[in-house]
Amino acid sequence: MEPIATEVLGVDPSSPEHERIERAAAVLRAGGLVAFPTETVYGLGANALDAEAVRGIFRAKGRPAEDPLIVHLAGAAELPEVARGIPGIVRRLATRFWPGPLTLVLPKGPAIPPEVTAGLDTVAVRVPAHPVALALIRAAGIPVAAPSANRFGRASPTCARHVLDDLEGRIHLVLDAGPTTVGVESTVLDLTGPRPTILRPGGVPREALEEVLGPVEVAELTHAEGGAPSPGLSASHYAVTPELLVVESPAFLTPAVAARIGELLRAEAGRGRRVGAILATEDAVELPDATEVRRVGSAEDLEAVARGLFAAMRELEALGVEVIVARTFGRHGLGLAVHDRLRRAATRTLAP
Ligand code: TXA
Ligand code: MG
Repeated sequence: MEPIATEVLGVDPSSPEHERIERAAAVLRAGGLVAFPTETVYGLGANALDAEAVRGIFRAKGRPAEDPLIVHLAGAAELPEVARGIPGIVRRLATRFWPGPLTLVLPKGPAIPPEVTAGLDTVAVRVPAHPVALALIRAAGIPVAAPSANRFGRASPTCARHVLDDLEGRIHLVLDAGPTTVGVESTVLDLTGPRPTILRPGGVPREALEEVLGPVEVAELTHAEGGAPSPGLSASHYAVTPELLVVESPAFLTPAVAARIGELLRAEAGRGRRVGAILATEDAVELPDATEVRRVGSAEDLEAVARGLFAAMRELEALGVEVIVARTFGRHGLGLAVHDRLRRAATRTLAP
């Protein structure tokens, strides 16, 4: 594709400058591609009502056309513009979780072109909680289709630098408001089947949804390993260049898991490879010399772990590490999303 000059515009994360938002909104309305922060990860936005603009997203990311996009709205009041046959439960979910990291899959309305939904008759919708995202969508006056702003298959971007590393020269504008706060993508909840089903665990924990909905299924857990619960959710995703060995762990490292991580690192280092580790602050692991360590947060603070995960993967990659050993953090709360992302990014997943 022809290179595009990518403009970077700094914006205040809590009270974004009006004229900068207007400038970005004008690019969207003109059919351009704008990367912007949401509370989860940076998104790559285009006018969701403009099929050609939406095709631009797929070209810029190198994303296969059969992977549907999320439509971002400034408020639940705009839902009827993009979805139809909206079930009554949406009202309660929206009141509790929007704006926020919850995406709802609903029957698609006629205004949304098939490019957005990969030809499906359902549409994924969310209202993001970031002031910059909300200001941008409001100023543009249109629904904004946006996947994560990374090259297809790579770790999602949690700061503007990550977006530029993947997409500089391929998109028109990046709004830089610093790092995102949630760090993993939204929870995708399908409301079109017989039972509410989580297609992708994310920023809203299953337990929080169950307070509103009662028991919620997780497609992940009911599908065979490697199975895809929804079109874009292929088994291999969120990856970086180094090999990634993922050791399945409960939230708090047991001595057996710590020993396993140490063994793996020593074995790889012993073969002359540059090694890295992604651990919790308190994890006591015997590390070979020259291990590059990223401690993403306390295991008691899964929000910090989720926030730091993708950045840790990209940082170790940038350091030229050849193999990363990472651990999961159980499957409760945000641990489920962290587990899902690590498993999909993994070259190998190991039981302790
Ligand atoms: O937090 C997020 O959700 C971020 C920010 C930018 O909002 N967006 C994001 O988009 O992660 P993306 O495209 O990377 O992932 C969206 C996932 C896709 O993998 C796709 O499988 C699923 O949502 N999805 C979208 N539309 C769907 C539909 N109609 N039915 C089932 N799954 C759908
Ligand atoms: Mg993505």
